[in-house]
Amino acid sequence: MPEKKEDIWLVDTHTHLNDEAFAGEGEAEAALARAHEVGVRQIINHGDTMASSALAVKLARQFPGVYAGVGIHPEEARELTQEDTDQLTAWAALPGVVCIGEIGLDYHWVKDVDQRALQRRIFVEQLDLARQLHLPVCIHDREAHGDTLAILQKEGQGIRGVLHCYSGSWETAQEFLKLGFYLGVDGPLTFKKAAKLPDIVRQMPLDRLLVETDAPYMAPVPHRGQRNEPAFVRCVAEKVAQLRGLPLAEIAARTTQNARDLYGLPTQI
Ligand code: NI
Repeated sequence: MPEKKEDIWLVDTHTHLNDEAFAGEGEAEAALARAHEVGVRQIINHGDTMASSALAVKLARQFPGVYAGVGIHPEEARELTQEDTDQLTAWAALPGVVCIGEIGLDYHWVKDVDQRALQRRIFVEQLDLARQLHLPVCIHDREAHGDTLAILQKEGQGIRGVLHCYSGSWETAQEFLKLGFYLGVDGPLTFKKAAKLPDIVRQMPLDRLLVETDAPYMAPVPHRGQRNEPAFVRCVAEKVAQLRGLPLAEIAARTTQNARDLYGLPTQI
């Protein structure tokens, strides 16, 4: 029997309706409406820069079921000023702001040694800020698994969070899980060349799994190549359900519980 949409409650824990891809009049609102249609009831927009963090905060205040992460992404790395820290702290006090993110390391796009050192420095600074503010972190780790793990092992005490769009090995995944971190999976799980990710999703504890879109990028099959959007997180959850041999409703319930546990999301909107 097909599952009724009202039985499903999904959370897209990593998305970017604050991206310019949704900047057109009414576009973010329309994307939210399409998400609600398929049971995606809560979403978290993450900032990459101070400006996009400000927009994430604005959307969280504007729409019910929409929350924000604030922080500086490694591809946008620059020295953090006192003004930045004060602003991040002020945002963190607002009710819809649920994490520091996205932060982390990106060695795929950034090859320069000094720029990578800067990424590591502001990653650690933002981890410290998250600890002080009692907020979880959302971590971007692209081709920097060793350094990300080493930094979290050394500097991550007392910090909870997620390795968003996880792309490492099962061995590294186990190390992150040991530290108490969650793993977020996105569109690449549905791709034909998904490599290690399906095996990781089959083996990992379900109470550490989050489903995400990272919209507007990396739309899952069958939307691959289109602009991604929060509604499509349902395709990611369906793939998880298939890999685990469980009904979609159960995967939805489990991953939503995880989103609540990590980000403190309300059970009602
Ligand atoms: Ni992202």
